[in-house]
Amino acid sequence: MDKVIVTGGAGFIGSHTCVELMAAGMAPVIVDDLRNSEERVLGGLEKITGKKPVIHRIDCTDQAALDRVFAAEKPGSVIHFAADKAVGESVADPLKYYHNNVGSLATLLRVMHRHRVNDIVFSSSCTVYGDSKDLPVTEASASGQAASPYGYTKVVCEQMLRDVSAADPHLRAVMLRYFNPIGAHPSGQIGELPIGVPNNLVPFITQTAAGIREKLTVHGDDYPTRDGSCIRDYIHVVDLAKAHVAALRWLSGRKAPVCEVFNLGTGQGNTVLEAVRTFEEVNGVKVPYVIGPRRPGDVVAMYADTTKSREVLGWKTELTLADALRDAWHWQQALGKG
Ligand code: UD1
Repeated sequence: MDKVIVTGGAGFIGSHTCVELMAAGMAPVIVDDLRNSEERVLGGLEKITGKKPVIHRIDCTDQAALDRVFAAEKPGSVIHFAADKAVGESVADPLKYYHNNVGSLATLLRVMHRHRVNDIVFSSSCTVYGDSKDLPVTEASASGQAASPYGYTKVVCEQMLRDVSAADPHLRAVMLRYFNPIGAHPSGQIGELPIGVPNNLVPFITQTAAGIREKLTVHGDDYPTRDGSCIRDYIHVVDLAKAHVAALRWLSGRKAPVCEVFNLGTGQGNTVLEAVRTFEEVNGVKVPYVIGPRRPGDVVAMYADTTKSREVLGWKTELTLADALRDAWHWQQALGKG
């Protein structure tokens, strides 16, 4: 069976991708030191797939340790999720972000080269488009102006892959620009596990509905949108996970060198207030909220043109915003107040 190294495989998107890889007949090998996730994810994966996940608990900037994993597992390809992702923290501690996010990709590419592993799928973000006026954004829209050090680590990692791919005739790389991943596995066994007070909208909504938070603050209702709140392209994490399987399959059929970028979104923009209302309707629970000031760094609107991923990867989303918000609530209920 084709072994795939999945760095950050115990994380939110990584764990859902492991499920889809197994469903597609591939064998994920998780590389994750669990610094941003919990043991329970591994139990959840076992319940869903019926198999104990294979995991190596190492830091992806540790070249010697990565080297040992590659020597032992002999993988055919890599999906690189492991990264820090808190925008505010990246402003306060940028070196942590450059060290972990940029450092881990550089280390991984070295190790891949040594072991002649040529296929990599990289987790990028729509943050590389910055405050784009070009909506919906296409892969050809201007990129490179991020709003935070976190965003710049994605810009730098994309450039690193382009540079390495230009120098290495064997490398085959896909860079996936995620829009706003939300939701959880419909089984309620795995989902997002925010540490402390959530920064992202949907975990804040579910924790408010569960009574863990008193109320949601909607960051601004004076944007030039249909109801004044920001617009984002919310994509169900299961749809997103399936795109990684499509990307690996597409890569394996290509002749090197390949370095392609794809948007992963639904193509639909929804406002913050629409997300709150949809959550309330689909789950029959109230989300108390107040309108607060704009959050620094937020862009007015961001949603994807998905033509390229549809036409080239043969992938498109199948689940709706309502599906994602229902699954997110189901997961929150499974977590309880803890
Ligand atoms: C941000 C990053 C994105 C990153 C993602 C994952 C930017 C511009 N975007 O996405 O690159 O991949 O986080 O961490 O750096 N909101 C509220 N109240 C809340 C929380 C959020 O109103 O309590 C609003 C925000 O103002 C925004 C929307 O909800 O309009 C989505 O916010 P969030 O879930 O944090 O994601 P992004 O900021 O879009």
